[in-house]
Amino acid sequence: MTVTLNGRPHAIQAGERLIDLINRSGIEVPHVCYHPQLGPIQSCDTCMVEVDGKLMRACGTMAAEDMNVVTSSARADAAQREAFDRILGNHLLYCTVCDNNNGNCTIHNTTKLLAVEHQEIPYKPKPYEVDMSNPFYRYDPDQCILCGRCVQACQTLEVNETLSIRWEDEHPRVLWDGGASIGESSCVSCGHCVTVCPCNALMETSMLGEAGYMTSLSKPALDGMIDVVKGIEPEMGYGAIMQVSEIESHMRESRTKKTKTVCTYCGVGCSFDVWTKDRHILKVEPLEGAANGVSTCIKGKFSWGHINSQDRLIEPLIRDGNGFREASWDEALSLVARRFSEIKAATGPDSLAFISSSKCTNEESYLMQKLARAVIGTNNMDNCSRYCQAPATTGLFRTVGYGGDSGSITDIEKAGLVLIVGSNTAESHPVIATRVKRAHKMHGQKLIVSDLRENEMAERADVFLHPRPGTDLIWLSAVTKYILDNGLADDKFIAEWVNRADEFKKSLESFTLEMASERCGLPIETLTKVADMIAGADGVCILWAMGVTQHSMGSDTSTAISNLLLATGNYMKPGTGAYPLRGHNNVQGASDHGAMPNFFPGYQEVAEPAIRAKFEKAWNVSLPPKPGLDNHLMIDAIHDGKLKSMYVFGEEMSLVDSNANYVGDALSKLDFFVMQEIFFSETCRFADVILPASPSLEKEGTFTSTERRIQRLYQALEPLGESRPDWIIIQDIANRLGAGWKYEHPSQIYEEIASLTPLFAGVTYERLEGYKTLQWPVAEDGSDQPLLYTKNFNFPDGKATFYPVPWSEPTDQQDAEYDLHLNNGRLLEHFHEGNMTYRTEGIREKTPCVFIEVSPDLAGERGIQTGGWVQLTSRYGKVRAQAVITTRVQGKELYMPMNSTDEAVNRLTSSHTDKVTHTPAYKETSVQLRVLGEVGDDPLPRTNSRHGHPTPQTGVEVERKWKRKDYRQPGDQLVQIQTR
Ligand code: SF4
Ligand code: SF4
Ligand code: SF4
Ligand code: FES
Repeated sequence: MTVTLNGRPHAIQAGERLIDLINRSGIEVPHVCYHPQLGPIQSCDTCMVEVDGKLMRACGTMAAEDMNVVTSSARADAAQREAFDRILGNHLLYCTVCDNNNGNCTIHNTTKLLAVEHQEIPYKPKPYEVDMSNPFYRYDPDQCILCGRCVQACQTLEVNETLSIRWEDEHPRVLWDGGASIGESSCVSCGHCVTVCPCNALMETSMLGEAGYMTSLSKPALDGMIDVVKGIEPEMGYGAIMQVSEIESHMRESRTKKTKTVCTYCGVGCSFDVWTKDRHILKVEPLEGAANGVSTCIKGKFSWGHINSQDRLIEPLIRDGNGFREASWDEALSLVARRFSEIKAATGPDSLAFISSSKCTNEESYLMQKLARAVIGTNNMDNCSRYCQAPATTGLFRTVGYGGDSGSITDIEKAGLVLIVGSNTAESHPVIATRVKRAHKMHGQKLIVSDLRENEMAERADVFLHPRPGTDLIWLSAVTKYILDNGLADDKFIAEWVNRADEFKKSLESFTLEMASERCGLPIETLTKVADMIAGADGVCILWAMGVTQHSMGSDTSTAISNLLLATGNYMKPGTGAYPLRGHNNVQGASDHGAMPNFFPGYQEVAEPAIRAKFEKAWNVSLPPKPGLDNHLMIDAIHDGKLKSMYVFGEEMSLVDSNANYVGDALSKLDFFVMQEIFFSETCRFADVILPASPSLEKEGTFTSTERRIQRLYQALEPLGESRPDWIIIQDIANRLGAGWKYEHPSQIYEEIASLTPLFAGVTYERLEGYKTLQWPVAEDGSDQPLLYTKNFNFPDGKATFYPVPWSEPTDQQDAEYDLHLNNGRLLEHFHEGNMTYRTEGIREKTPCVFIEVSPDLAGERGIQTGGWVQLTSRYGKVRAQAVITTRVQGKELYMPMNSTDEAVNRLTSSHTDKVTHTPAYKETSVQLRVLGEVGDDPLPRTNSRHGHPTPQTGVEVERKWKRKDYRQPGDQLVQIQTR
């Protein structure tokens, strides 16, 4: 189809908006409220163009065959100017002293584009105060142009539903929870609104007084300057004034550094520019992240206090009696090399073990496993995927062949139905949750959630299942059986693509709906409804996380999930598939790059002679043939006296492994323990040498996110003090042990990885430049696979396979003494135990401590109130914390988040594990509860978003603005909302 645009024919793409066509063709038309990732808001009217002789909004009009569009006719131009004049009536142009004058301010740029010299409608302040009640951003109503981008973002992209504009008010403004202060609203500080605001009305507080050369002046001085500027404007016009602000803006470029990085927290893989001025972090600016677009959560957008924290380790430390003393790098590295050599000589290479960090880069994991295997000579190598993700990987290895998400986040968005099992997605993978919430709210996607807690996704779900703890495998298998038995399965897909169908069907015999109903405590009608919804959906994606994997049946339940997808043909096409949500930013990458006891990079088996021979040749060493110890077995081996020394980097092992007291005892028995960290963590207490490392902003490398997406991070800052990037430290240790490595940049490490690993054969730093990404497997020619299975599954015959799984009773069951079930998991504001996030003041303010969620029933029965101190005792340890009474949990089930190092939930968890992978059964914990009598304040302060009251609506609801008596479409009679 073609349209005529300013007299010339233009081909249009299906479903294209006029504004996109205009932008694509290089014609400049103002469009203040339009943001491609938000869709048309139609509130600013600056994009008026003539379509077949009628004035229309280019953002709200779809291009259609034979349209005649004129963008610069006198009528269109006049309408655009009128509309923008109204905006200037709501916004004081003081660009030279504005922290938002950085070349990307939409208001500034539109003033320039339209060459505005004078404004017809005088600026008029609104009768509201600036709101500074959120620690991370502020709202200035006087600068707010009421474009509604922020509302649209909050309501339809983030879907936290905090923001609205009451268009009927005499002086409309943006409202939080319909009129609360930001600090006491439901705002989760995700930052979407701040990111999309086209001016300085919403700004990061870290920018204020910092971005401009003159913006740190006192308010009276600034006001005085603004008055002077306004005074000369009628005579000089804006042109001259804007030129001064342009010069000031250009001057900022020389000192404001913008560096593309990848979030250091969860596995979603959000990428963004970080703006720095010297070491000050001005802001995080998400733009075009492949995984996230403009989206972030509170952690990625605002939690960077750890970077310049006073607590950073900035010098090597060596144990000195009960304490530590500072040491030079030379002394520390020499000691490490000497002790590793001595221990290896005395008790053999397998008396040493190595743990890689899922927070660090792929290149660093690769070097760590190379150090263990090629330099020390042991396969005792693991990473924290053992604590969470290994069972999901096993379930996928068993059934479809690759241990990774079978599609991309865009597939999750596209699915007709999303099933979430054992994942608090809105808190643990917030940006993925936004995609599900958006699809559910705006596009009719169906949502089923199975969880012990009625978390946010459960509240939103069409069906919420609350099975008895540890019984997901049963209902998943029963639903699969029902689908197979009732002709609802995708028989064609099974016949063509799935092996062992008969054996599998037989294995399901005992999983009747009746049995599932009885064991899981779920009504049969609900189970059949779920089965019918899954079978009838146009594409199903299943998302799962630690609520599944951290069980003694973690691998088997993950397998049951994949079996269900295979039975319903939900692989090999867009909008389908299996999505184990990876927890840490690089937990996928750490395993992918060989930080495992049985695999070289790319899941090449160490026990396979031909594979080993390849690495032996490349590394010029002989390699140990037997798989090594995983991190669970390492702890037992220390207790057994077989393991003498460990080298751990970026892993709070003593608290995040289960049965923390047992783990701590083991670490204290080591002959020689090396920790490499950015802070003096709890685990550092057990160390003999502590090496100061650099966090993500101080180094280069790559991370691999949950959707198998490899992305580059660039160095924004120099390492603080004497700290060094982990890859440099690992190389230094290897070289002191005689390795002779000569890597000068992580790209050289990746060249080696690619040359040895078919899965990453085509990965190069050039192909990952800037915001470019690759989703493995990556062929030598650089082609990648966003959808993992298109032509075949990853088995020799190209077919997937059903994998029968039985059910067994969970471990650590309740009895008369330990009568309560304890669940645990992450909290939105903190990552894991909070070693990094507690270093951001605003996060501490909103979420200062750990707490225990107690159901209203149990609280009533035991006389517990919110703020009351309780003690939980398990068969393994005890903790004390304050209670929060909430309907998120039911009956005798408790929930304790992980955000504490003092009262860590893992002092309560056991050493039971998943049978296949040794992943701890963290979610199978029984406790007794003692009420301690003391009652304090609510551990979640008033400023915590959980106290807020969202105001859901479909978007900015601009039609209500159009209904105002004082509104006229520009080009007609000029009327402006603020000045009746
Ligand atoms: S939740 Fe808060 S920060 Fe996020 S978009 Fe809504 S108002 Fe803005
Ligand atoms: S605060 Fe919201 S409505 Fe106001 S200018 Fe910014 S994005 Fe637009
Ligand atoms: S923590 Fe996760 S969701 Fe939040 S910004 Fe980082 S990668 Fe994105
Ligand atoms: S950009 Fe079209 S109405 Fe604002």
